Amino acid sequence: MQQRTLGNSQLTVSALGLGCMGLSHGYGALTDNDAAARLIRDAFERGVTFFDTAQLYGPFINEEVVGKALSPIRDKVVIATKFGFELPATGGQPGVNSRPDAIRRSVEGSLKRLNTEVIDLLYQHRVDPDVPVEDVAGTVGELIAEGKVKHFGLSEAGEQTIRRAHAVQHVTALQSEYSMWFREPETDILPVLEELGIGFVPFAPLGKGFLTGTIDINTTFDSTDFRSTVPRFAKEARQANLALVELVGEIASRNQVTRAQIALSWLLAQKPWIVPIPGTTKLHRLEENIAAADVVLTQQEMDKIQRALSAIPVKGERYSPEHQANWGR
Ligand SMILES: NC(=O)c1ccc[n+]([C@@H]2O[C@H](COP(=O)([O-])OP(=O)(O)OC[C@H]3O[C@@H](n4cnc5c(N)ncnc54)[C@H](OP(=O)(O)O)[C@@H]3O)[C@@H](O)[C@H]2O)c1
Repeated sequence: MQQRTLGNSQLTVSALGLGCMGLSHGYGALTDNDAAARLIRDAFERGVTFFDTAQLYGPFINEEVVGKALSPIRDKVVIATKFGFELPATGGQPGVNSRPDAIRRSVEGSLKRLNTEVIDLLYQHRVDPDVPVEDVAGTVGELIAEGKVKHFGLSEAGEQTIRRAHAVQHVTALQSEYSMWFREPETDILPVLEELGIGFVPFAPLGKGFLTGTIDINTTFDSTDFRSTVPRFAKEARQANLALVELVGEIASRNQVTRAQIALSWLLAQKPWIVPIPGTTKLHRLEENIAAADVVLTQQEMDKIQRALSAIPVKGERYSPEHQANWGR
């Protein structure tokens, strides 16, 4: 697979990474650990060198699976993980916590679970409104100096947070949602990343599965699938949003590829420092997604898509208000 460099850092990875979350978190049925580790190795054997996990996924089990799968090839891959959520001792929903002591605890846990001496890319999972980002960047800077972390990243941070963090510690990458049905980063975020030389890692590049055309009005999400809480996936929003899936289908037929491949190649065509991380639990979809790295959309096609996307309003928020309540930007 072609390689891409995240901004003006030295971090070069496969043009598409693998989002490992769905193997152990978020999408209902969990993949057995051995099968999950096998899929991760299948991805590596097909050219993927960039793997995304987080302390939160599982929680914890996803990092262990990623660590188990990648240990034998550790020096050939880039592992990204995240800190910033903590589970209350009494149970319940994880809350944001990026205090320096919490970051250090999280990193020590991640290093053990990933079975590695160093984390290649460490993101703050969500901005903590109670901790100045300068303190967060400073703590990650210390961890870099101690050799426990190589690169610093942020997730879902706003423009000012990115600037303030970058002034303290070079931010290698921002990981935020970006796809054909969530284009907000185009307004303020992509310009600041370009200006500062920061790479962009779009998460949910397939619209959490919606853009692939495998979800329709009759699809049901059980309570263990977080899409059951997402307003954008509510039945009447989905009904409206299927117009977008239809459009992606037309573009796919025109280019003789699949919808998933259009969703990914469209992101790759935006900037050379963008590296999407689609997630899947299935080998045939992994192969389909990887093949998107070879799909080239012409400028004329991109312009046509841009015009068509602008004409389709997307209905519904991408998170429930309860989810979003404690996060800063
Ligand atoms: N920083 C953050 O806050 C944050 C938030 C969310 C996610 N992430 C990261 O981003 C990664 C990707 O995001 P995501 O997994 O939420 O969303 P996504 O990649 O947009 O979509 C994943 C969904 O699409 C389905 N899918 C994948 N390839 C497909 C294909 N070719 N055809 C049809 N369906 C397909 C998967 O189902 P199957 O498994 O059945 O294929 C899964 O339900 C995650 O794994 C995680 O590492 C980060």
